[in-house]
Amino acid sequence: MDFSRKGTIRVSTSRGMTYNLKQEIDQMKRFEIIKEDDLGLELRGDMLDCMYLNMHCRCAYKVLFLIKEFQSSDAEHLYIRLNRAIKWDSFVDVAGYFSVSGKIKNESILDERFAFVRVKDAIADYFMHKFDRRPDSGPRKHGVNFFLFWEEQNVRIFLDTSGETLSKHGYRKIPGKAPMVEALAAACVMGSGFERDQVFINPMCGSGTLAIEAALMQANKAPGLMREDFSFMQVPGYDASSWEKIKQNAESKIIAAEPYVKILASDISEDAVEIAQVNAQAAGVEDRISFDVCDFKKSIVPQGKGVVFFNPEYGLRLGEEEKLEPVYQEIGDFFKKECQGKTGAVFTGNLNLAKKIGLRTKKRIPYFNAQIECRLLLFEIF
Ligand SMILES: C[S@@+](CC[C@H](N)C(=O)[O-])C[C@H]1O[C@@H](n2cnc3c(N)ncnc32)[C@H](O)[C@@H]1O
Repeated sequence: MDFSRKGTIRVSTSRGMTYNLKQEIDQMKRFEIIKEDDLGLELRGDMLDCMYLNMHCRCAYKVLFLIKEFQSSDAEHLYIRLNRAIKWDSFVDVAGYFSVSGKIKNESILDERFAFVRVKDAIADYFMHKFDRRPDSGPRKHGVNFFLFWEEQNVRIFLDTSGETLSKHGYRKIPGKAPMVEALAAACVMGSGFERDQVFINPMCGSGTLAIEAALMQANKAPGLMREDFSFMQVPGYDASSWEKIKQNAESKIIAAEPYVKILASDISEDAVEIAQVNAQAAGVEDRISFDVCDFKKSIVPQGKGVVFFNPEYGLRLGEEEKLEPVYQEIGDFFKKECQGKTGAVFTGNLNLAKKIGLRTKKRIPYFNAQIECRLLLFEIF
């Protein structure tokens, strides 16, 4: 494949996060966004741009390069178009491996796996016809991945240049209890308005995701530096030296840690703090975060502008909500007593509990944690 051929790139994300994704892509100052929706945005670029986006996007799930779009009403028509209209050997080597996934909303398809099998057949038959042999295929994401969007009649087949989702940033060695997806945590830190030279306090840190994401942003360390494998590396035409250049450029942008620590993370659970420290070490930001085991009411809040960010449990099971009410009230009290001049941030999936904080919100930003509709609530504390 010609890595310098321009085309449509779709950067996908989770519902609610397009705004943050757009913010970070705008900051790159090298792309013009041509379309955006609830699940991502689109721009023009080549495979080298895809590699760059894979390296730098904190809020993305996948970077997809459009191969072809056309209309199709049923799986047989889809098979014929895909089999005949695309030179598949430019995307996957005959001795390689590929997988197919996607999102389908077409009434002729009752089980999306059937559509994926027909895409796989179209590709495999193309190779059999041309070479009398074919690349291996299956569900694993270690080879070349193709992504099918099929909504009503509209088919779009993409090269998924990421492979495994980019929403995992590669540093989580131990998950801990109810951890946030790294991309969501990054979006929330951005949404909180945190800036690099400010303090970030994360009581109830759990496995440390929010504090680690804040530290990574402060360090300007790209998420792609913590990951070895991307699907674009398996595409014929990939040149490792271009990736090396993108990597070196990202490394050169890392901002050295300042001698005083501005990110504080604590949790009442000793286990959680140990896990957070292991994860921070894997992310290479352990020297930027000061960890403590304590009840949140005892958290130290240093002077200066910044964000105090809570992600308390939000009681999904019966009876849990009642038990958590005093916790939310105490978070509100803590904001009022200890956090003057700061932005208070609470990420929760329970708006009844959120009311117990007892402060007027400055902003309420909707996000989704898996299928649960959540809110990032921001408070200006005077
Ligand atoms: C939903 S988890 C936080 C998950 C975290 N955002 C992550 O990504 O891993 C809530 C955390 O609050 C902690 N916690 C509960 N009550 C606390 C309290 N009174 N003081 C400090 N931490 C508390 C729990 O131990 C748990 O780790």
